[in-house]
Amino acid sequence: MSRLHDHAAALLRTLPPETAHNVTLWGLAHGLGPRAPADRFDTLQTQLWGLRFPNPFGIAAGFDKNAVAVKGALSLGIGFVEVGGVTPRAQSGNPKPRLFRLPEDGALINRMGFNNDGADVVAKRLENRARTGIVGVNLAANVDSGDPVTDFVTLAETFAPCADFLTADISCPNTANGQVFLDPIALRELLAALARAQTGTPLLVKLSPDIEQPNLAELLQVILAADVAGLIVCNTTRSRPPTLVGQHKDDRGGLSGRPLAPLARDMLRHSHAATEGRLPLISVGGIDGVDDAYDRIRAGAHLLQLYTGLVYRGPSLIPRLCEGLAARLATDGFASVDAAVGSAAT
Ligand SMILES: Cc1cc2nc3c(=O)[nH]c(=O)nc-3n(C[C@H](O)[C@H](O)[C@H](O)COP(=O)(O)O)c2cc1C
Repeated sequence: MSRLHDHAAALLRTLPPETAHNVTLWGLAHGLGPRAPADRFDTLQTQLWGLRFPNPFGIAAGFDKNAVAVKGALSLGIGFVEVGGVTPRAQSGNPKPRLFRLPEDGALINRMGFNNDGADVVAKRLENRARTGIVGVNLAANVDSGDPVTDFVTLAETFAPCADFLTADISCPNTANGQVFLDPIALRELLAALARAQTGTPLLVKLSPDIEQPNLAELLQVILAADVAGLIVCNTTRSRPPTLVGQHKDDRGGLSGRPLAPLARDMLRHSHAATEGRLPLISVGGIDGVDDAYDRIRAGAHLLQLYTGLVYRGPSLIPRLCEGLAARLATDGFASVDAAVGSAAT
């Protein structure tokens, strides 16, 4: 069944990228996606922030920005979904085209610019959904906001009742306000304001792979000192590895997929070392196979997220990753995914 859907995914790749994406969401929202059990392997279950994840694989932010296909996405066998990025007010995003495929590189470049329906509409969708799986919400300030701190606080208050976790995305490469909190003083102020809001919902921070030392070290210190439940590393990169060959390689925007993997791995290792394993880490960036997924868990990731890998490999990637990871854990004598987290950290 899933193979059929992989063929459908290949057919979708003949359409313009954003059209293909919208058709995919429509299909998932109308129950046309494949179905796979998320909890097939006991060893893949993991507890974090009081939540029971049926497996460590999630769908990354940006895939379902408006929470229109949450149920269909969870039916793919994924362990959790992060919807958004959502801004307080609806935004149309950057002019089209703004999403480009680099098939030879297994990559995408996007400069969507936080197109979304706005907090109230997305929150209503989440409130009305059946609570069947773990859903986080990715938060971002409006592009024209004069007060991004207040935007984040408003968003946190709006989504706390209907989300299992919240992510402050401070690493978007595509909007004016996307990276203002990469200044440690500004980030401290933001996290203090969010802590004062006392939403009671775990708050994660998502970082950019383009942050250089010593800025990264400073930001991690600010995060460790604040009331933050976890880190997501990482967002797309503005950099362009010299290996890229795709026709769109020089287009403006954030690069995701296979060429991002080395940067994402470095950032994971660095974050794990700098936080001494004290902060749960979600690794994202170019994951499209079992070897890499297993390596990232052993390098310190508690959870993993996918986006571009699903575009190129199709939805059967999810059950294949679950099966492969469970097999690796068994071969190496790990009783659970938790037991393997950080076991090969350097
Ligand atoms: C089209 C597109 C839109 C995205 N939108 C968001 C977003 O709104 N918020 C966010 O934090 N990350 C966003 N991302 C980044 C992904 O969540 C993820 O960090 C990145 O794509 C790396 O993972 P991948 O290589 O598996 O795609 C977006 C990525 C893509 C491709």
